[in-house]
Amino acid sequence: MTAISVVGLTKAYGDLTAVDAVDLTVDVGEFVGVIGPNGAGKTTLLEMIEGLRRPDAGEITVLGEPAWPRNRRLQPRIGVQLQASAFFERLTAREQIHTFAALYRVPARAADEWLERVGLGEKAASRVEDLSGGQAQRLSIACALVHDPELVFLDEPTAALDPQARRNLWDLLRAINEDGRTVVLTTHYMDEAEALCDRVAIIDHGRLLQHDTPTALVAAHAGGGNLEDVFLALTGREYRA
Ligand SMILES: Nc1ncnc2c1ncn2[C@@H]1O[C@H](COP(=O)(O)OP(=O)(O)O)[C@@H](O)[C@H]1O
Ligand SMILES: [Mg+2]
Repeated sequence: MTAISVVGLTKAYGDLTAVDAVDLTVDVGEFVGVIGPNGAGKTTLLEMIEGLRRPDAGEITVLGEPAWPRNRRLQPRIGVQLQASAFFERLTAREQIHTFAALYRVPARAADEWLERVGLGEKAASRVEDLSGGQAQRLSIACALVHDPELVFLDEPTAALDPQARRNLWDLLRAINEDGRTVVLTTHYMDEAEALCDRVAIIDHGRLLQHDTPTALVAAHAGGGNLEDVFLALTGREYRA
């Protein structure tokens, strides 16, 4: 079963083609990583699939529905964590997620359960500006999941976290997928993609270079190496986030 199907997806900002004729399929239940250096086009690609950005060309089908123009039938079924996650100012963690729950007409109890699940039960009364980077990311993931979506988009949820906080988040991300949800994650950390993802889509300068399992990509392009070696083999450039 197909969760996402993208054909010929293209988006330019002026002279810059940020996403260039991308074809991509994500199966239901998969954990897919969209990976590549900063500026590769990951966020633009994701935001088009989420129905938040208008494509210049191409077709996007999400859970059997067209993604653009913004499709209200999809809203209850998808969860979106934006790269620049903005919180409502001066709210506590609990107030923040309860606000999301109200927007989605979800019982407050579900919001409290999510706070516990992401390990923020003890921080429920803290203001969002007083959370650590890792705690803020957990809260923003909980807010994206409060309505129990079947498909979740997470845009660089571990960027700017220290290595320990990043690894702590990995367990949560795995658990979200093990619940049966389809997960699409962007990251510029190749080790993270290798650790978490069933398949990775490597993006560079807006183009999809490869889409396969990390194991298959390493075997085909960088025997004995890792995804950074795959990037070097595909582009002739050392990988730099
Ligand atoms: N709103 C915008 N206007 C103009 N250029 C943009 C805009 N958003 C992104 N870009 C450019 O498009 C390219 C892809 O950006 P982005 O999709 O954010 O990549 P990534 O998420 O991989 O870092 C970059 O060169 C970026 O500077
Ligand atoms: Mg981005």
